[in-house]
Amino acid sequence: MSLETQPAGQRPVGPTGTGYDEVTLARLTADAHQIVARYPQARSALLPMLHLVQSEDGYVSRSGITFCAGILDLTPAEVSAVATFYTQYKRRPNGEYTVGVCTNTLCAIMGGDEIFDELSEHLGIGHDETTDDGAVTLERIECNAACDYAPVMMVNWEFFDQQTPASARGVVDDLRLGKDVAPTRGASSVCSFKQMSRVLAGFTDGRADEGVGAGEPTTRGTRLAREHGWTAGADGPGGTGAEDQTPDEDAPAQGSGVADATPSTGAEQSSAERTEETPADTSPATTTSTDEPTPAADEKTDPAAADTTSTTTEGER
Ligand code: FES
Repeated sequence: MSLETQPAGQRPVGPTGTGYDEVTLARLTADAHQIVARYPQARSALLPMLHLVQSEDGYVSRSGITFCAGILDLTPAEVSAVATFYTQYKRRPNGEYTVGVCTNTLCAIMGGDEIFDELSEHLGIGHDETTDDGAVTLERIECNAACDYAPVMMVNWEFFDQQTPASARGVVDDLRLGKDVAPTRGASSVCSFKQMSRVLAGFTDGRADEGVGAGEPTTRGTRLAREHGWTAGADGPGGTGAEDQTPDEDAPAQGSGVADATPSTGAEQSSAERTEETPADTSPATTTSTDEPTPAADEKTDPAAADTTSTTTEGER
């Protein structure tokens, strides 16, 4: 029963007057207070709050809008204005898996348009539409900064690199059958839209450092630069001749505090350079490793260098 149709006397008691039952409202309110506490001004918490609502309802519901407005001292119109601006916020119930095909320029040229057309025909839905079984919402998405793996598809924001129409069709079929589906890098499995929304709200699921974040295509430039002794500046390829930008070797290292803060290999937030730790890192069923040498310990401050590359080929999925 919606908030609008529920008799006033039976509506849950709470500061927001939402349609949530008391238990749900209490749980969401406790979560919301954690989110708000991260910001100097409460209203700054709106974006993660909207993800929190999606983790509960699967979209930005009317109750969710009312809840956010009540917690953050905003009007429902102000909350709606934000929720309708960003495509990650859904105005109607989303599928369990958002399948986003990058059709931005590079991916489109590399086959993204064909992948989207194949999935659209195969699933019988268009952009921002959901299959009848509620499993898949299909989207065209913009560049996800994974152009080196084009054409790229995302499932609940996990990467599926170098796809083909056939491999993409296989992924959505497996999702609809409830099979375990593994991204080609990053987390070792795909979670649901609601679970992913809770992570985006800032509640970690402990999987942020699963898998390999930066594979060989991403780190190829760094490797070539090392092999050839290239540096950024006048001496390097494409150098601008701006000799005055070359660091003074006698000067204190700029940003040394940043270097000091670089997470150690395998530590939280270290995705580019890490040791193999999880089954997804090492399983021969899902990964192949290059013969790239393992960087020495003193190379840790270069986050763009990866010691191991994991890619999943189409035939292995
Ligand atoms: S164009 Fe598709 S990830 Fe950049």
